Amino acid sequence: MSSQNRTNSLKFPNKFYWGTATAAFQIEGHPEEALGKLSDWSEWIGRKDKVQKPTNDGRAVNHYEQMMEDVDLIRGMNNNAYRFSFNWARLHRGPGEFDENAAKFYDTLLDQLLQDKAGLAHKARIEPFATIVHFTIPTWLAKEGGWENSNTANEFQKFTEFLVKRYGDRIKKWVTHNEPNIFLGFGYESGIWPPGHSNDWNRYFQAYQGLLLGHQLAYKTIKEHNPDAQVGLAQNLYSYESKDEGLHEKKWQSANAMPNAVRKQLHNYAFIESCIEMDTLDFLGVNYYTRFSYKLNPKAKDNADPNVDSSFWGELDPHPDSETNSLGWEIYPEGLYKVLTDKKLTTMLEGRPIYITENGYSKVEENELDIEDGYRIKFIRDHLIAVHRAINEGANVRGYFHWSLLDNFEWALGMKPRFGLVHVDHTSFVRTKKKSYDYYSGVAKNNGIVLCSPVAATPA
Ligand code: FCB
Repeated sequence: MSSQNRTNSLKFPNKFYWGTATAAFQIEGHPEEALGKLSDWSEWIGRKDKVQKPTNDGRAVNHYEQMMEDVDLIRGMNNNAYRFSFNWARLHRGPGEFDENAAKFYDTLLDQLLQDKAGLAHKARIEPFATIVHFTIPTWLAKEGGWENSNTANEFQKFTEFLVKRYGDRIKKWVTHNEPNIFLGFGYESGIWPPGHSNDWNRYFQAYQGLLLGHQLAYKTIKEHNPDAQVGLAQNLYSYESKDEGLHEKKWQSANAMPNAVRKQLHNYAFIESCIEMDTLDFLGVNYYTRFSYKLNPKAKDNADPNVDSSFWGELDPHPDSETNSLGWEIYPEGLYKVLTDKKLTTMLEGRPIYITENGYSKVEENELDIEDGYRIKFIRDHLIAVHRAINEGANVRGYFHWSLLDNFEWALGMKPRFGLVHVDHTSFVRTKKKSYDYYSGVAKNNGIVLCSPVAATPA
């Protein structure tokens, strides 16, 4: 149980995991992937109508070559955990074909996390949380319909088997998918991510089934080889405005009434619920960024029938007086508390552990060196206060992973949004610690936060 002690600090439970989260395509930047267009995203990055510049042409932040330095940064931050993802496209070249060089990269990464210089178990072990797929899929599978084709789920199972056989002795915490809901929303509703379909609900649900099947198969495969492993899913959860909840059914046709309830069910709960019903969820990874208040978008039309309104998701409509980050995402720490203590979620989870697998603050900048990021320190502190409060009220939260370690590639938004605790020069790839890096090091070291620490105001 967490506590608030006399020096006005908030302590987190013993053995709490403190880490950062990253994803292969957002940091690695292997030239072989970029040039060979091995993944759907390495193709997509060239779409001028979809991806904002600069993109670094898929080189991301050169983690592939600077991985040792990056692990030193992680260890220098007193972190006892690290969430990364495997590069499915580089590892899995075709049916039954796995690339040895690509596989060695993760052997080295895991050794760095787990061993000291003499090759012995490190005293400051950094627990790997491995994500099997973080959005990008191999081109050879994307060409055959990606997740819409159930063969992708079968190949995902084989990929998982390869991973668990090779790394299962070192990885105890597995995340099958990252944010199926975000992948589906951007890939099949707005169409700004691959495979680029807009308002195509038939494909949306076809891919949904594929992702679900993939999760079930991966879960079973890991457990078969490694029964002690813990297997979960990272889902993006929004704190939804509740203004239309509890409205009488007759209001279905008006305003946001039903759509908001349906969106909440589909976005926040449905996938998790299915995994639990199939008994394939040991923990939940919560990625939390913002509160979403929606207004319907009357311009959105159903792909199959232009006469049908498909304003299912609506449009982002932040409260006029609320603070936002430079991407327009409302900063709403209270929402993390609400998500973690949400009755429907906690009832569904039946006490399963929760890890905050992502939470972070973006500032959009050119390549200048801004390391005085008091706004990010405030963001972290306020969200941790919210997590602490939720834990005190019974939420079984066991870890927090900040998004992200480095200023990385941010999908359709290109290289400009900077989420890192460490600044990266996107030309020279030089890393420079920001003030938030020092702050987060202190949090991890003390297993908590000091409330009276001075924090700078959030920039306008
Ligand atoms: C999440 C993604 C992650 C990153 C953050 C900002 O939705 O999982 O890859 O892009 O948003």
